Parts: sequence; C-alpha cells; structure tokens
Amino acid sequence: MTGLSAKIAQAKVAAQAAGLLRARVQLTQTASSPNQFSCEAQHYLNFSSNDYLGLSVSPQLIDALVEGARRYGVGSGASPLVTGYGDAHAELESSLCKATGHEAALLFCSGFSANSALMKTLFGTGDTVVADKLIHASLIDGLRESGATLRRFSHNDLLAAQRLIKAHQPLALVTESVFSMDGDVAPLSQLYKTCTQQGSWLIVDDAHGFGVLSAQQQANAHNCDIQVVTFGKALGGQGAAILGSRACIDFLVANARDYIYSTALSPSAAYAANCAVSLAIETGELQQKLTDNIAYFKALCLQSGVAITDSNTPIQPIIVGKLESLQRVFEYLKQAGIWVGAIRPPTVPKGSARLRITLNVNHSHSQIDMLVSCLASALSSER
Ligand SMILES: Cc1ncc(COP(=O)(O)O)c(C=O)c1O
Repeated sequence: MTGLSAKIAQAKVAAQAAGLLRARVQLTQTASSPNQFSCEAQHYLNFSSNDYLGLSVSPQLIDALVEGARRYGVGSGASPLVTGYGDAHAELESSLCKATGHEAALLFCSGFSANSALMKTLFGTGDTVVADKLIHASLIDGLRESGATLRRFSHNDLLAAQRLIKAHQPLALVTESVFSMDGDVAPLSQLYKTCTQQGSWLIVDDAHGFGVLSAQQQANAHNCDIQVVTFGKALGGQGAAILGSRACIDFLVANARDYIYSTALSPSAAYAANCAVSLAIETGELQQKLTDNIAYFKALCLQSGVAITDSNTPIQPIIVGKLESLQRVFEYLKQAGIWVGAIRPPTVPKGSARLRITLNVNHSHSQIDMLVSCLASALSSER
C-alpha cells in the first residue's frame, strides 16, 4: 500500500495499538422510549445523552418541528446573506436576546461551527487570547486557525486567570459555563469583573449551561460580553447562536466566512428551537426535576462508595484513570444493559480517562438505582 491509503491504514493500526481507535455505533431508538436504545440485538439504558431536559422527544417540540416545516419549508435554500435568513431565524434570535439580555444574535448550524467561526473572525495574528485549559476543541481549532497567541490557565483557577490577564492584557478571555467533560461551573462573575477592569472581553461557551443552570448561575449579558448557546443539548434540537452586542454581531455577519458561505440553519429547526427556548425557560419545572435527579444520583453514590466529583450539573464524571480500567468498567456496565460515555485522551488529559455520566429529566429513580448499583460493583473490582 502506498500514498494516502497507506497513511490511513497506519493511523488505524497505531490508534488500535494505543487503545484509542474511535468508531461509531449504530443505535436503534425511538421517541416513544426515551433513554433506551438497542444496538447489536442488546437493549441499553442511556446515561450518555446531552438531552438534559428530555426535549428531543417532547411531543410539543416534535409538533413545532413539523409546524415549522409546514410554515417555512424544510430547508433555508441559501446562505443567510443571499435569501436564507427569514422570519423563523429572526424570531429565534429575538427570543434568545430576550432570554439572555444580549442585544443581538447570529444563528449557526452547529456549536462547533459557531465557536470556531467566532474565534477565527474576531482574532488574528498579533492578538492575544487567554483561555481555560479545558475549553472545547472547536474553540481551540478556531484560535489556532486565527493565528492569535493563546495563553492558557489551569482549569477554573481564578488567580491564574487574573495573573494572565494582568500580564498580557488580552483582547479576550474564553471559557465554558459548564465544562463538558467535568460538569463544573466557571466563576463567571469574578472573571467578568477582572476582564472588565482590564478592558478584555469575556467570551463564554454556554453549550452545556443554557437551559440547565439556575438563574443565579446562568451566563447572560450581565456576566459576559459574548455567549454561545447551542440547541443540540438542553434544547433537544440542532444548531447554535452567538449572542453579543449589535456591533459585534454586525461585524460577524459581514466577516465570518463560515456564516457567509454556508446554507443558513433550516427554518424548521429555527422554529423548533424557538419553541424549545420557551419550554426550557417556561416554569423551571424541568430544571427542578433535573436537579432532583442529580441530587438523587449523588446521594446514592455517596452511600454506595462510588467516588464522584463536586459537579452539581447533569454531567457527572467518574474518573477511572487508566485506559484498561475504563474499558473493563465500561464493558461491565454494558453487559448489565447500561450505556455511559467512556472518555479517553486526547478528549480529556492523559491519566484522567473517565466515565461521563449524564442525567436527564426522563431518568427514573429506579433507573438511577440500577446505574449506581452497577457502578459500585464495577468500580470495586478496580480498586
Ligand atoms: C462545550 C461545547 N461547546 C461546543 C460544542 C459543539 O456544539 P455542537 O454539538 O452544537 O456542534 C460542544 C459539543 O459537544 C461542546 O461540548
């Protein structure tokens, strides 16, 4: 074998040898049985979805998607600066601004695209940006492509962040609200205060926070300059928005190549996301149910000797450390009909391979009982 075929084959062999080969699994799942799927003739209980509020299977949201398609058609048919931007998009942007207090919004087809476009468009060679060590790959890729100098501080270390800001006076500090692999929350108010004092902007990737965090913890126009929300997690759909000042959004409209040269988000998806925003923030009932499930899971883990972190969000990591242990624990749970995320480097730092358990409003207490009981058995044989 030569050329590209050889390169591809060698990469596969190397990843296999390191136990790091990534591959997809095809699932069969239906909206009528949330948190359950089958795969290779086995039935599983799903503890690895980001559908925290269960909205992806909500009858109201399903109806909204169909209604959006009836009203506006399925696809937008063009990029936003041609004829792809319509009423459904403008209404969603307006709802998001109302929910967060930002002046303006810009829709993207995914959070990855929104984050990387934001970094590439705002920053360039000669600029300095400070960021938390654990920010998402989409932000890192965008920053790399931008040519800006990136200075990173240890995860959620406020003093280290303050030192870097004072020393380098960056254009911006970038963080997540809820960290995707750890579930912990950034100190937004303190970071915002420091940024404001030094004339730097605070940019928050709110992918796992929007619709989940309490009013006191939420990212909004009072504690950040730019906020990226995604529709594929708590909102149960697909797509994303960048929120910020009118001047900033106008700048992105005029310069963000990923926005300008890509078909606009489907109007039916925008219409459904607008409905999801209402459902997510309506009464706080879903958040209460989620909080109850998180508390129930944590209390059970404590009773059963399962070591958890101090995360109080639906993302509950169980750090296993070694890859071989992770694989054994994952297989044990799988045999018991439980599916959890098994996260390995380079997604997480070396030596911190982990189970990424995610809870949602549709998990019952008996399903959580089963999860924790299996976790306790699987982990006890790894000690
Ligand atoms: C923190 C964070 N930001 C951004 C994204 C990308 O969002 P999307 O899935 O909409 O592309 C993800 C997705 O996994 C994420 O975890």
